[in-house]
Amino acid sequence: MKGILLAGGRGTRLYPATIALCKQLLPVYDKPMIYYPLSVLMQAGIRDILIISTPEDISRFERLFGDGEQLGLHFEYAVQPKPQGLAQAFLVGADFVGNEPVALILGDNLFYGNQFPMILQEGAALTEGGLIFGYQVKDPQRYGVVHFDAQMRVLGIEEKPRHPKSSYAVPGLYFYGPDVVQIAGSLKPSGRGELEITDVNRVYFEQGRLHVRLLGRGHAWLDTGTFDALHQAASFVQAIQERQGIKIACIEEIAYQMGYIDHQQLFKLADRYAQNEYGEYLKKIENITARRLK
Ligand code: DAU
Repeated sequence: MKGILLAGGRGTRLYPATIALCKQLLPVYDKPMIYYPLSVLMQAGIRDILIISTPEDISRFERLFGDGEQLGLHFEYAVQPKPQGLAQAFLVGADFVGNEPVALILGDNLFYGNQFPMILQEGAALTEGGLIFGYQVKDPQRYGVVHFDAQMRVLGIEEKPRHPKSSYAVPGLYFYGPDVVQIAGSLKPSGRGELEITDVNRVYFEQGRLHVRLLGRGHAWLDTGTFDALHQAASFVQAIQERQGIKIACIEEIAYQMGYIDHQQLFKLADRYAQNEYGEYLKKIENITARRLK
């Protein structure tokens, strides 16, 4: 399965912080925001990744990650000239997707939870249809919302409904078969002028090919859309890392644990950070991994 990381948009809600730098490169505590969704794709076992961003920002991502080889990954880059909707990612990335299933993750979505890597690996095994998630939130009207009948069968999905029919928001992580490119190509722009991901999901739903998996209480799906949300996400990461002494979304650690790089390559990456805390952490990873496996 291939992966698309969508990291464009205007970011105007976070002005002035995002005037000169896109949102997905802002730090969430101790690492750039994009590390978090990248770590999700990596844990799903996805190594072939297309990063899509704005004409101004794409070179910054290239500077950050290069071709991905140092992480045992393969990165490609593409520009979305204007933010005309999440589903446009499949049109920008049509050649990259080719004939393979694909996962799309938004560059500003943070996930954390017990069992999450297992769920991801199930998602990455999808070959056809669509798989999305449902997550209970207090303010569903800000998101795509999926609603169900009494047996929890999906009844419909709506984008930012004024009167949500459930409290299940659809997080920014989607798994699709290769025909998603064709489906995205058949969409008309919505009232707000965007190719909506919710319309892609609606097509799969109407064809009886949409699976929705609920993420329960043991999962955190964090938003970064406002200064408060960004601050809370950073506090969340800080609190867990401080308590456990292990990092969330440390992409070098994940690359090592997943077997994408070996011990020597990990050490080389650690050298890049010289004596700082992140570098010291990377050098201790072998011990941490051994402790966790006990
Ligand atoms: O976060 C999950 C939600 O993301 C879903 O529940 C909604 O169904 C989905 O439409 C989307 O809602 P948002 O209103 O939060 O999307 P937003 O326009 O903020 O874009 C999400 C991220 O994607 C943001 O970091 C900017 C980036 N983006 C957005 C658009 C529209 C792009 O890179 N290109 C785009 O064209």
